[in-house]
Amino acid sequence: METSLQVKIQNRTRDIEQIIYSYLPEETGYQKTVLAAMNYTMKAGGKRLRPMLMEETFRLFGGTDRKQIEPFMAAIEMIHTYSLIHDDLPAMDNDDYRRGRKTAHVVYGEAMAILAGDALLNYAFETAAKAFQGTADDIITAKAFRILASKPGIYGMIGGQAVDVETEQQQIPFEELLFIHENKTAALIECAMMIGAVLAGASDEEVRVVENIAKKTGLAFQIQDDILDRTSTQEELGKPVGSDEKNQKNTYVSMKGLSAAREDVIQYTKEAIDAFDSLHRENAFLRDLLRDLSGRKH
Ligand code: IPE
Ligand code: IPE
Ligand code: MG
Ligand code: MG
Ligand code: MG
Repeated sequence: METSLQVKIQNRTRDIEQIIYSYLPEETGYQKTVLAAMNYTMKAGGKRLRPMLMEETFRLFGGTDRKQIEPFMAAIEMIHTYSLIHDDLPAMDNDDYRRGRKTAHVVYGEAMAILAGDALLNYAFETAAKAFQGTADDIITAKAFRILASKPGIYGMIGGQAVDVETEQQQIPFEELLFIHENKTAALIECAMMIGAVLAGASDEEVRVVENIAKKTGLAFQIQDDILDRTSTQEELGKPVGSDEKNQKNTYVSMKGLSAAREDVIQYTKEAIDAFDSLHRENAFLRDLLRDLSGRKH
């Protein structure tokens, strides 16, 4: 990775963390344990990729109103973090480490981790709703809100997660694996980038192109996640390796092998960049970020 790009990513990540932190609940009141469990995983770090992609897509289309974009940036990271807390539960992937820490259910118990996940999902909408300002812009805020409600849902992330767990230890056709990857992972990346575009006033046609860029990026991202589960280390990833094999998951690597998986990460990334270039809009950082993800090590 180019050093200057790495530094830029680090700086963006730091700024995004500040935005996210400003929306997290205070850990007070009788319900403070669930609030602490929410903040525990939210504050554990992570790449903050989805808010970063959202903000950079917003910039790509000339968006400037911070009061509109920032609640959505925090909200999508809350939804992502809820999905991780639930994904790690004993009933799902049963993993004990996440973002370099013990998982929420190990520290707070299963009941509190389930509630913390539910709470983050609900609080995401409470947070995004702060973008409504009683002005004419509320029309586009509503459009973004609808995307935030649907992409993580039954025809998106939850749909993908359901098929992922249901097809453990089963042989499935390759198309079904693509369904899993498109939904459990790409849908939330689509959600992030489409909201950035919509809030900046992109046209419907442009939003469709953005959806396609994000879909290809999300597929490459999940294939790389499957590769890293086989080839990386817990120190590097901050989460266990070998989780997929333990659960006898269908993954891109188990179905197509490592070298085909690596080739397809590069191919999907190329398709994402080609679609990006077809927009004829400039955000050099976003373009570099999309390209760089294919070689990510964590
Ligand atoms: C992990 O997402 C779950 C997948 C969709 C593969 P990330 O790799 O973005 O996790 P964090 O946010 O950096 O921890
Ligand atoms: C999970 O995919 C995608 C989610 C919606 C959380 P994985 O189960 O492969 O994600 P990791 O490897 O645990 O982060
Ligand atoms: Mg999983
Ligand atoms: Mg998992
Ligand atoms: Mg994985």
